[in-house]
Amino acid sequence: MQVNLDFTGRHIFVFGGTTGINFGIAQAFARQGASVTVASRKQENVDAAHQQLAQLGGPVLGVCADVRDFDAVGRAFAEAVERFGPVDVLISGAAGNFLCEAKDMSSNGFRVVVDIDLVGTFHVLRQAYGHLRKPGAAVINITAPQSFVPIRYQAHASAAKAGVDQLTRVLALEWGGDGIRINSISPGPIEGTEGFRRLMAPTEAERAAAQSSVPMQRFGTVDDIANLALFLASPYAGYISGALVPCDGGGALESVKVPLEAAGRAAAATGKPA
Ligand code: HXC
Ligand code: NAP
Repeated sequence: MQVNLDFTGRHIFVFGGTTGINFGIAQAFARQGASVTVASRKQENVDAAHQQLAQLGGPVLGVCADVRDFDAVGRAFAEAVERFGPVDVLISGAAGNFLCEAKDMSSNGFRVVVDIDLVGTFHVLRQAYGHLRKPGAAVINITAPQSFVPIRYQAHASAAKAGVDQLTRVLALEWGGDGIRINSISPGPIEGTEGFRRLMAPTEAERAAAQSSVPMQRFGTVDDIANLALFLASPYAGYISGALVPCDGGGALESVKVPLEAAGRAAAATGKPA
């Protein structure tokens, strides 16, 4: 079920928006009449997302860019703004993750996740600033419970997402005077996504235990996150800025440690990347 809010004629740009949760957000805005730009690394993902979004009937642009490449990110915004005008809503959600204990993690393994999640988010926000509608733009960073709940096997992602949430707060201070709001969404485990596949416990029994550890007794859906993004980008959230909004059925209160630790133990035992 998706909420109904009108974004007709608005330009929404979703970085990392070609698959999973972020693609679901892009679809939700397309259904509400927005002009949608999605960007990510892989041409095949960009093409597939473009095709599916175009079927919803509105204007769509797909751009290939790696968030680690500052200049490529800048070119992506220039192309999008040339096509659809200033960005009304920016979603920054590109991320990478794998399970690995810190003692086994290589320097490059730590760096690659920090580069995508944290430095990449800075690149997106920094390059977007000159192209955001002022006043009125809404920016949403997609983070994770790891940013405030320390979780084994997640040193890289926990550090990176904590940095992203602090960027949200600092930029809320710096950009508030321009009439730009910026918030973080922190999804719990969202079924049917790559993050869920990589990080969730490997056995049915452990998944069931993980599910019952969520106060609301269910995993999340892509629509849960898309609905929150629609709300945070809308005028109904016009006085909300610098907030970290969990969308996790209360899971971070209880802890998502159970599935991650089970999956991490399995990965460590087999030596296979999870
Ligand atoms: C240990 C690993 C590893 C693994 C990679 N590395 N996978 N180390 N265990 N499973 C190490 C490599 O050995 C290498 O270090 C370094 O990381 C870089 O690996 P590359 O494969 O060269 O990097 P790259 O091609 O840039 O790919 C980045 C990636 C990849 C993050 C490793 O998985 C990716 O592109 N992911 C994008 C999709 C994704 O992860 N989606 C899920 C997001 S979910 P060395 O030293 O050997 O050179 C999420 C949070 C969910 O973010 C939260 C749920 C609660
Ligand atoms: P996903 O489908 O793998 O989404 C990641 C997106 O980022 C993809 O579109 C990917 O496309 C893009 N991307 C990755 N590296 C990139 C790079 N270097 N440059 C540009 N784009 C890049 O994963 P997901 O599970 O839906 O996660 C989406 C977001 O939600 C992430 O920020 C994640 O941390 C967060 N999250 C997810 C969960 C969950 O349960 N799934 C829980 C908490 C938080 P390309 O491969 O084409 O680049």
